[in-house]
Amino acid sequence: MHISTLRDQFPALTPPAAIYLDSAATAHKPQVVLDAIQDVYRHSANVHRGTHKQSADLTTRFEQARVDVQHFLHARYPQEIIWTRGATEALNLIAQSYARSQLQQGERILVSEMEHHANIVPWQMVAEQTGAELVKIPMLADCTIDMDAYHQLLAQGAALVAIAHVTNVTGTRLPIEEMISAAHAAGAVVVVDGAQGIVHESVDVQALDADFYVFSGHKLFGPTGIGVLYGKKALLDAMPPWHGGGKMVERVSFAGTTYTDLPGKFEAGTPNIAGAIGLAAAINWLQHLDRAAIEAHLHQLTDKAICALSQLDDVRILGRQANSSTFSFVIDGVHYQDIAMLLDQQNIAVRAGTHCAHPLCDALNVAGTIRVSFALYNTEQDVDHFIAAMIKACDLL
Ligand code: ALA
Repeated sequence: MHISTLRDQFPALTPPAAIYLDSAATAHKPQVVLDAIQDVYRHSANVHRGTHKQSADLTTRFEQARVDVQHFLHARYPQEIIWTRGATEALNLIAQSYARSQLQQGERILVSEMEHHANIVPWQMVAEQTGAELVKIPMLADCTIDMDAYHQLLAQGAALVAIAHVTNVTGTRLPIEEMISAAHAAGAVVVVDGAQGIVHESVDVQALDADFYVFSGHKLFGPTGIGVLYGKKALLDAMPPWHGGGKMVERVSFAGTTYTDLPGKFEAGTPNIAGAIGLAAAINWLQHLDRAAIEAHLHQLTDKAICALSQLDDVRILGRQANSSTFSFVIDGVHYQDIAMLLDQQNIAVRAGTHCAHPLCDALNVAGTIRVSFALYNTEQDVDHFIAAMIKACDLL
């Protein structure tokens, strides 16, 4: 695989583009995705609503996108794939439909301390609504999950467990296989936030046995505003609808409404048609690449960057994990925003701050971090530029 050929497929990298080390926030889009989105709008029509050919054709492509995602996740049925606006909306849907209708007063929701706010706040909201209790699964100082504490918490009882596949701050992968089987043995349902994880490994939801698995399109080289909720059909079938509106109903009268089956039950209103088709284009493109070679390349970039950074005075890498494409660091005595600004002035894009993960930053006792995240279009030269820019920034401070 030639990275230089891949880079050519990304218009956002055309010089003088910045050296982009912020793909965990959102990934650049290959031309094939831009073309797919434009093509939808060029033949614009609505889906599931028209008798005319244009609507029927687009409906076929829209539903094929669902089947593409089903195959990508190795889900059993296409009806298990629900379009959402992103991972955040998918998590809110599970909280407000599944959890709100199922949780009883005093039941426990276990949420890891390593989560993005999207996998904390919806559970806090539903805990307030139902009287359920939100309990933290603590992390260790090396930014791994405390598995002993997790097993103890499960033994005390849990109705639901919510965990990230990979954390967005330090790139740590959670042992989700072990966590899911332990949760099931304790009778809990498991929600996995796959927003960062699915970018870096093939996911087989049946083998994983996740009850729910969610992700966003835009981190996976697809458009913003589209995401996926995968849920086991039996669970989704039993869940009440969340948003009300057109196309999620069978019959509406002022006396009452009956709802349609999956997946329409959860897709009120005109969907993000271009988003779904654009995401399928990204997935089909990605599946034709050598994903193992890409991951090896990313790990090499991360190792190189961490090795060089570690030579600089006062730099602390947080929770260094092997085989990651994302990592965070701090420089003791220097504000993360100052470093990010000095890097930006040298045309290097990183993310600095708390990364929508206040509890994780609190646990690490840092006000914020500088985060570097690589994607398949980054090169060793990018790392060299980044390190040179860091040396210059440190000299200036
Ligand atoms: N959740 C995204 C990030 O980690 C936006 O940057």
